[in-house]
Amino acid sequence: MLFKKPIKLLIEEQKNNGENGLTRTLGPYNLVALGIGAIVGAGIFSLTGIVASENAGPAVILSFILAGVACAFCALCYAEYASMIPVAGSAYTYTYATLGEFMAWIIGWDLVLEYALASATVAVSWSSYATKLLAQLSVNLPPELTGSPFDLIRLADGTTLKGGIINLPAVFIVVVLSLVLVKGTKESATINNLLVILKIGVILLFIALGWSFINTANYSPFIPENTGEFGHFGWSGIIRGAAVVFFGFIGFDAVSTAAQEAKNPQKDMPIGIIGSLLVATILYVAFSYVMTGLAPYTAFKGDASPAATAFAVTGYHFLNSALIIAILAGYTSVILVMLLGQSRVFYSMSKDGLLPEFFSNIHPRFKTPWKSNLFFLVFVGLLAGLVPISDLGHMVSIGTLFAFSLVALGVIILRRTNPEIPRSFRVPFVPVVPILGIAVCVCLMVGLPIESWERLFIWMAIGVIFYFLYGKKHSKLRKLHQQNPDTTNSGSVQ
Ligand code: ALA
Repeated sequence: MLFKKPIKLLIEEQKNNGENGLTRTLGPYNLVALGIGAIVGAGIFSLTGIVASENAGPAVILSFILAGVACAFCALCYAEYASMIPVAGSAYTYTYATLGEFMAWIIGWDLVLEYALASATVAVSWSSYATKLLAQLSVNLPPELTGSPFDLIRLADGTTLKGGIINLPAVFIVVVLSLVLVKGTKESATINNLLVILKIGVILLFIALGWSFINTANYSPFIPENTGEFGHFGWSGIIRGAAVVFFGFIGFDAVSTAAQEAKNPQKDMPIGIIGSLLVATILYVAFSYVMTGLAPYTAFKGDASPAATAFAVTGYHFLNSALIIAILAGYTSVILVMLLGQSRVFYSMSKDGLLPEFFSNIHPRFKTPWKSNLFFLVFVGLLAGLVPISDLGHMVSIGTLFAFSLVALGVIILRRTNPEIPRSFRVPFVPVVPILGIAVCVCLMVGLPIESWERLFIWMAIGVIFYFLYGKKHSKLRKLHQQNPDTTNSGSVQ
């Protein structure tokens, strides 16, 4: 269980991938766009309003800065790894090389919470905006087909219906994007680029047009007084707000899952990871500054579309429809890149024998792990269509924070065990920066509700059972060790 995968073996494997492997089609711009595609979504469009009205007031800007800095510590660690071990699989692969097979399995299993669950969560939000847009175009979907059987559905006359049949628009978007991913990574990247241009364009328009309507009186008080309860305004509100808007930064790590498809991973991976996080942080800060300047923070309470509420002040009504389109584009790219990340993690686990070969089967023509994409089409489609995802959002955060902490820990370990491996990008001030990364992640995890911890343990327990029933028996590294014990001893480079 403690076998570590030698880095040299990892690098050899990806060199030998050749005809049967993933192809290198992504350049630095595609990688930054991939990151922005995964990062900018529900966080900016809905969490800004929630945190401003419930936790931080206009100081939501500080919450974004705090969460951005916290993510930067971890992004630097991801960048070092991705430049050193440019193979698909991200945190899973890094952990295999540093903490051994069992922990790698745990992380690979845990990443399902981040990638698959985040795609399902965002698909459900996508569905509610798509339904709204269709209603504006006088296409009214039957409410039974826009909610899960466990949802309460509000009808047009104000009455509520207990439970729909299926959330069809959510299933639709998952199916379409999974098929795009099957078709090809390059095609998926091109579609992602267009979606990113669209959402960034509208966000910049929002900032530029909204700027002159800012009423500085709305910034006062900038940090509303604490109500006496932790997390409700004051400095504790800013910190709680940072934990909530953390969801908005999730996704920069998805860039590293595509390392095996990057043309020049050593150089471009750090650009993709850090570049996309930087762009997202600047956009978030500017967006929340304008939003809280346009309307008093109290106006966003219980508001499902706070950006539209803020923008109503300007009188540019055409922007309301543009906003919905940008939100849909934003959510679409988040789902696309998360689904991509998920299939790449399972691809790597399957290549190592920890999951069935099915997940690493590459399509002869499209060069994508198509069976894996189709598997997640069904899995995520069912989740999005039938499960009320709203209360599972925290699961995405806890799963991601866990993965981030282990990646940061791995950087410290590998600097000691394998200092000789070339790193085209190095985290500055090791071990201070990774330790800060771990500390922040642990603090944010502690702030999450106890149910998220319980669900995390249940999910992990299922994973451990799977490992003993399948992974441990089929591990290729274990077989390699049986043939030649020297190859796998202690994980050092041979
Ligand atoms: N960061 C992604 C979003 O905000 C998950 O939607």
